[in-house]
Amino acid sequence: MKRVILTGDRPTGKLHLGHYVGSLKERVRLQNEGNYDEMYIMIADAQALTDNYGNVQKVKDNIIEVALDYIASGLDPNKVTIFIQSEISELTEFTFYYMNLVTLARLKRNPTVKEELKQKSFANDIQVGFLTYPISQAADITAFNATIVPVGDDQLPMIEQTREIVRSFNNLYGETLLEPKAVLSDNEACQRLPGIDGKAKMSKSLGNCIYLSDEPEEIRKKVMSMYTDPNHLRVEDPGNVKNNPVFIYLEAFCKDEHFVKYLPEYKNLDELKAHYKRGGLGDVKVKKFLNNILQEVLEPVRNKRKELEQNKEKIMEILFKGSDKARKVANENLKRLKKAMGIEYRNYCNN
Ligand code: TRP
Repeated sequence: MKRVILTGDRPTGKLHLGHYVGSLKERVRLQNEGNYDEMYIMIADAQALTDNYGNVQKVKDNIIEVALDYIASGLDPNKVTIFIQSEISELTEFTFYYMNLVTLARLKRNPTVKEELKQKSFANDIQVGFLTYPISQAADITAFNATIVPVGDDQLPMIEQTREIVRSFNNLYGETLLEPKAVLSDNEACQRLPGIDGKAKMSKSLGNCIYLSDEPEEIRKKVMSMYTDPNHLRVEDPGNVKNNPVFIYLEAFCKDEHFVKYLPEYKNLDELKAHYKRGGLGDVKVKKFLNNILQEVLEPVRNKRKELEQNKEKIMEILFKGSDKARKVANENLKRLKKAMGIEYRNYCNN
């Protein structure tokens, strides 16, 4: 069986540190390991429109921003196929057939959709397009026979729903589709990086992000303003490292060699944490350490991004080339899907 990896992002803004540790780094690792036959990265503009249908321009403008973030973070268009979702009209056809396999009650139970609905507080009612985006996500995955889907933990309900659709389809129409598996980062702090304000998740709409494109001074300011333990008022007070974003970021980013370089009084994160918990370690010192690390991580990404920005046409070319390849694959698989369902009318009278 072919090993196919697929994942993607909605182009609603530039990508931030949460994306970087939660999925980009993992994708680059998978890419460089090379243990796959095909790898697809999808810019999910059509899905982004399900809650931005009134602001097409925003979605359009962010397609290139996301592509820049991808390539600057180390995704290599020679190794992976980067494409634009709306360029593959076959995906809507997959979605339409899958809609028969999912009930309204099941869609309403999807925890991620529920959470998003709460955040958006849709006035009276919810658009069908938004409620059904998990079905279209099943199309995104199965149209390429992907079985490996590297995502953040908020996407687990989508993968579960995809697996259910795959099973229903195969039960009804015969073994055709493959059940995908989610691949999560094995570092828990990376799976869901909190915002700099300590809110559950880094998210553009909450305005609590550090972006991959942020300048050094912006990064420094954001780090120095980060929420920490609200009860750690004086340096000598004992502090809490749990639910403390500064320490969660350190869990996600810091390596022992960073201590040698920037904070040689400590050997590793455990020692730093122990001191903070005991009391006697100020937030400013920890934040300065974190800032040094983040500057080191983000500098090469920002520089590469600036270089790529000089030639946006080349980036668009990469996306169109990727889309042409993806369309061929999705088209082949759509034919297989329809054949399995028995939707082949052209030779109807011969059978
Ligand atoms: N829902 C994903 C997000 O919000 C984007 C996405 C769309 C996706 N289709 C996908 C992710 C298929 C993985 C697989 O970022």
